[in-house]
Amino acid sequence: MNRVDIERIRRDFPILAQKINGRTLAYLDNAATTQKPQSVINAVKEYNRRFNGNPHRGIHHLGVEATRLYEAARMKVKNFINADSAQEIIFTKNATEALNLIAYAYGMTFLEPGDEIVITISEHHSNLVCWQQVAKAKGGVLKYLYLNDDYTLDWEEVERKITDQTKIVSIAQMSNVLGTIYPVQEIAAYAHTKGAVVVVDAAQSAAHMPSDVQVLDADFFVFSGHKMLGPMGIGVLYGKKELLEMMPPFLFGGDMIEYVAEQSASFAELPYKFEAGTPNVEGAVGLAAAIDYLNQIGFKQIQAREFELTRYALSKLAELPYVKVFGPTHLVKRGPVISFAVDGCHPHDTASILDHYGVAVRAGHHCAHPLMQFLNVPATSRASFFFYNTKAEIDDLIDGIKQVRRWLGYGS
Ligand code: ALA
Repeated sequence: MNRVDIERIRRDFPILAQKINGRTLAYLDNAATTQKPQSVINAVKEYNRRFNGNPHRGIHHLGVEATRLYEAARMKVKNFINADSAQEIIFTKNATEALNLIAYAYGMTFLEPGDEIVITISEHHSNLVCWQQVAKAKGGVLKYLYLNDDYTLDWEEVERKITDQTKIVSIAQMSNVLGTIYPVQEIAAYAHTKGAVVVVDAAQSAAHMPSDVQVLDADFFVFSGHKMLGPMGIGVLYGKKELLEMMPPFLFGGDMIEYVAEQSASFAELPYKFEAGTPNVEGAVGLAAAIDYLNQIGFKQIQAREFELTRYALSKLAELPYVKVFGPTHLVKRGPVISFAVDGCHPHDTASILDHYGVAVRAGHHCAHPLMQFLNVPATSRASFFFYNTKAEIDDLIDGIKQVRRWLGYGS
């Protein structure tokens, strides 16, 4: 992508042009949420202007149009992750809801006392607390995979901890704190030899690499629309059809039933069995437009650009002796998420002083308390990039960190 291309791409994102505290915004909080291109903004606006109706209910024109657009979005998602069938695509509120759906409808139903669930120490709370609850309720055991000094997994530990007792392995494809990309395909292959079901949390990865659930052989695969240019409030649960069919519904109500009598009900076919209530059609429409935009740029270009931005940021941060990076330095083992500490500066001070200079980063525990305990830090600052970021924005980050040190009385 040359300079002209990136300028053209950035013009698609109106929010990026604004000034914050009188300075041009450097939006480096893409792991929290991504910005929306005009095509996504327009798709949602157009849906509400011309097509809004309640899908699967209306016989009238707008009900039919809403159904058409909602199901077209489902088909787009199916193709995006190469699922076998659109019946395997369940729309949820976000990745968190999708993980809860698996935990309740699969975990609470099929786990037996003594069964084991394996996750990594770097999981986001959404892929951790729900498994704690399942383990507690069912008398199961929650086991953790810890990390090597380079923030990657130890394969010997994987083989030691995933055993014949393991019923569920649930792992993020990319850590939202460390940026580590975990070998989920290899883990799935190994876990399947032990009879475990494998859940892939793709919340952080779906926007940054191609997804193919059949190649990964993931049993479940979840992600959120807003982390991949789409609207908030729409997420996806993919599940293998035979598993989804075994599972009871998660929520009960309209649209998920086949027939209801006074004392009993039968349930709709997939995917509707898991989509109770009026769905977020405008969210699905926006997500479909986001997928179109990502496909138009292409993951080859997205990955090449993010690789270069990450390489540049890591090399610039390495020049600052008072900055410590938490995450792999090896570029093929990581994505564009960099957590760091500035010596002597609390991460919240770092983030708020950076904000003063127009640089948006996140600070805190990043919904990963056990990881913070493992790293022995209360919190980190985190910069996370997307293809629309520039090296100039990374320069702003580096200059901002130098200012943080000055503000807090350390000189430079
Ligand atoms: N899960 C999002 C993050 O890591 C909110 O920032």
